[in-house]
Amino acid sequence: MCKKVLIGVITALTLTMNASAVEYSLKDNMLKLNSYMIQMQAAFIESNKDKAVRTANALNGEAKMLFGDENLMAALLPKGKENKVRIALMSSRTIDDDVVIINASMNTGHWETAQNAYLDIQKTCMRCHTLIRD
Ligand code: HEC
Repeated sequence: MCKKVLIGVITALTLTMNASAVEYSLKDNMLKLNSYMIQMQAAFIESNKDKAVRTANALNGEAKMLFGDENLMAALLPKGKENKVRIALMSSRTIDDDVVIINASMNTGHWETAQNAYLDIQKTCMRCHTLIRD
């Protein structure tokens, strides 16, 4: 009896710990994405080509790892929002396209095209947040 209760407590504890680890990891990833977006905005404001390309590529790597992985996203999305995995995959593709544009435009010095691609990434972030939070 006592053993059963103990096993129950340990199972409950393990489950709680897993849930908070998942929550922490999503928050952690989102804060990282946010930090890349802030750095990229600074790069465009400062007209710093290298920084813009570096942060765009770093953001893309992070976004692909997170949004491109269906199983990971299904586990990380808030309860009842698991069906938004498709939005995550679409976001990953949009961000990838925009980062390709940023790299190409910075090579040819087309600042406005690169900046529009940056704004498109920002829209992608906000679109998913609106869908998730509604
Ligand atoms: C596929 C959906 C999706 C996309 C795309 C997305 N997010 Fe999120 N984001 C979430 C979810 C889910 C949460 C956690 C729940 C909430 O905050 O409503 C979140 C939370 C956040 C938070 C708050 C973290 C905290 O708890 O302090 C930040 C900051 C953030 N996202 C930044 C970004 C940025 C920047 C991008 C774009 C590069 C982005 N997100 C794209 C789904 C998404």
